Amino acid sequence: MKKILVIGACGQIGSELTPALRNVYGTDNVVAADCVYPLKGELAESGPSCKVDATNAQDIADAVKKYNIDAIYNLAAILSAKAEANPMLGWNVGVGAVLNCLEVSREMGCSLFTPSSIGAFGPDTPHDMTPQDTIQRPKTIYGVTKVTGELLSDYYFKRFGVDTRSVRFPGLISNVTLPGGGTTDYAVEIFYAAVKGEKFVCPIAKGTYMDMMYMPDALKAAIDLMEADPAKLIHRNSFNITAMSFEPEMIYNEIKKYIPDFQMEYKYDELRQNIADSWPNQMDDHCAREEWGFNPKYDLTSMTIDMIEVLKKKLNRQ
Ligand code: SER
Repeated sequence: MKKILVIGACGQIGSELTPALRNVYGTDNVVAADCVYPLKGELAESGPSCKVDATNAQDIADAVKKYNIDAIYNLAAILSAKAEANPMLGWNVGVGAVLNCLEVSREMGCSLFTPSSIGAFGPDTPHDMTPQDTIQRPKTIYGVTKVTGELLSDYYFKRFGVDTRSVRFPGLISNVTLPGGGTTDYAVEIFYAAVKGEKFVCPIAKGTYMDMMYMPDALKAAIDLMEADPAKLIHRNSFNITAMSFEPEMIYNEIKKYIPDFQMEYKYDELRQNIADSWPNQMDDHCAREEWGFNPKYDLTSMTIDMIEVLKKKLNRQ
């Protein structure tokens, strides 16, 4: 059975990917690692955990050796708006962690999953049906680190044979752990406001389309890609994947079907708006569908129903 190290296990993706991986591979075979240690709650109680600061290669190597790891999910990240506030931190985590994971993977024979993002594209990229292979000149430090991570990962595959795989995640909508400092975060925060009965102040302007995905589809994509037959992978770093594309008015109206009193006003945040404007409206993800069977289950309607139901329970608003 595969032995897996999840770096960034307490983050938005890690806090749900770790239990999903434990379901597939067995609790003892999935090690939850984070720079904040000790881990708390379910993640710590349901399987092994350790401290890994991804910007420290020795931490990663020690964990790989101690637990006999053969696959790493590197989820350490500083999201787009937060990275703009501290570009050096964005670079150190966005590139430093990837390079450390690549070197440890090369030396110790691990396969490696690293998320890329819609942020890997920029204003010069075609915004509609953004192709798999196209111009990538992002204007954010987050995007610069994502493109660098993609290039380094392909380099390590071609030069050293490291089994690197990656997806360009769209905005991820989830109900367990909040994202922090991203441009697409509004699409999560809007649900919390609606369920709490609060008015939502939207930082993204009306008419701004971005790709999005519900977390269960993102988790399945990460696991499926790492299980995919390598002979069928024409691409590796990274695959466009998307489940839906919407602008704020569309998600607001969808939520209002179930919470009719819900109110929203626009007060756009210049930094986030500029970033959003530079990203795709909708990516073309046919390569992921053809090469490894990517097929998301949730659209805006089914995600909204599930988000509201789960958050009502979580926030005691029945
Ligand atoms: N969700 C990320 C962000 O908004 C994009 O991948 O920064």
